[in-house]
Amino acid sequence: MSVEQTITFIAQPGGHLTGTIRVPGDKSISHRSIMLGSLSEGTMTISGFLQGEDSLATLNAFKAMGVCIDGPDEQGNVTIQGVGMHGLKPPAEPLDLGNSGTSMRLLTGLLSCQGFDITLTGDHSLSSRPMKRVTDPITQMGAIIKATASGTAPLHIKSSPDSTLKAIDYSLPMASAQVKSCILLAGLYARGRTCVTEPAPTRDHTERMLQGFGYPLEINRLDEQHSTICLEGGGKLTACDIDVPSDISSAAFFMVGASIAEDSKLTLKHVGINPTRTGIINILKQMGADITLSNEQEVGGEPVADIGICSAHLKGIHIPEDQVPLAIDEFPAIAIAAACAQGQTVLTGAEELRVKESDRIQAMVDGLQILGIDCQGTTDGMIINGGQIGAGTVDSLGDHRIAMSFAMAALKASGDIIIKDCANVNTSFPNFIQLAQSCGLNVVVSK
Ligand code: S3P
Repeated sequence: MSVEQTITFIAQPGGHLTGTIRVPGDKSISHRSIMLGSLSEGTMTISGFLQGEDSLATLNAFKAMGVCIDGPDEQGNVTIQGVGMHGLKPPAEPLDLGNSGTSMRLLTGLLSCQGFDITLTGDHSLSSRPMKRVTDPITQMGAIIKATASGTAPLHIKSSPDSTLKAIDYSLPMASAQVKSCILLAGLYARGRTCVTEPAPTRDHTERMLQGFGYPLEINRLDEQHSTICLEGGGKLTACDIDVPSDISSAAFFMVGASIAEDSKLTLKHVGINPTRTGIINILKQMGADITLSNEQEVGGEPVADIGICSAHLKGIHIPEDQVPLAIDEFPAIAIAAACAQGQTVLTGAEELRVKESDRIQAMVDGLQILGIDCQGTTDGMIINGGQIGAGTVDSLGDHRIAMSFAMAALKASGDIIIKDCANVNTSFPNFIQLAQSCGLNVVVSK
């Protein structure tokens, strides 16, 4: 075990969240801005880039493939000299993508037809996450990929003897933006028209950004849930600057914290409110949260707003299943809101939570039970009965979102909450402790 893995948070009980803060840049958009910027023709600048380990893993991967990337500077500005669709060079070593599922799944598509062999590796958590969901469709397109016997990383991508892929028409077996994006990025290199049908709306940053870089895309909404996205391979990307909004998934911890802690009044600036990401707002509002949006505007093809949150008495609900993909990263935080709400909250249709950075159903249920909350896990969700959060030591299992959620729980706890294995908070929210302290959370790092 490395020294870093021993980071522990100690969150002391009570307090309230007040003031105006800006949480770091959106992780999904940061990854994609490096990928598309690198493949584009021309020079582009990214502002507000997330300087977390996950998005830096993507940045370093493209540097290792010969792309000239300056930054990020202290403000999160990154400048990329795009190398065009066929300008990447073979890296000297396997690309180590750390904890980042988005890097590995999107790069599997994007790197499946570059004319050189490449190996993608990751940390212990990433190496146990399912990759067949991306290697299956990409193999159908003609790529040659070797994974472990259980379908996990490391992934060895062999340069295909044929220099292009075959387009496919693929129906996603699960609602996953990573799988959708993987196939669309491979489709850029395919002969013909690649189409992906999704069973429910998932984050559409890839589609928006491809269009921003001048790549034609067709989106057909089949019904309330299903859409098909199609593109022709063989086009090009034209460099375009990107302003990365604050990450609603990072804002979510503060939205829950300010809702549960009495006398809270917090404003979160310039947060991305893309409708494929706003499940957290819809769910919390349904639970009775006091959330208002202001300064709504569109920045570089993505809607943003300031989000105001005041304390509220939350009530338990049955979370509508259509909100699950729209809040897929927010359930650890929502579980804390549910533990503080009056009555029962039921989550169903969320089996994907079992294959995130940790098994998030198990991690939240185990931690909440330690803190005295009556709750149980189900195959596809959780049942949580609101109550009094106690004190105790919980394990984040090295999952950033589990760690930050339990830190917020301290606002309503009766004693200290000690959270183990918190180093991976740096994957998505490197200044979490300082920012949380600055608006009133009593949390410190104990090494
Ligand atoms: C992401 C998609 C989601 C999400 C992840 C980021 C993306 O994963 O959980 O944090 O940037 O495309 P799935 O596609 O597995 O749902």
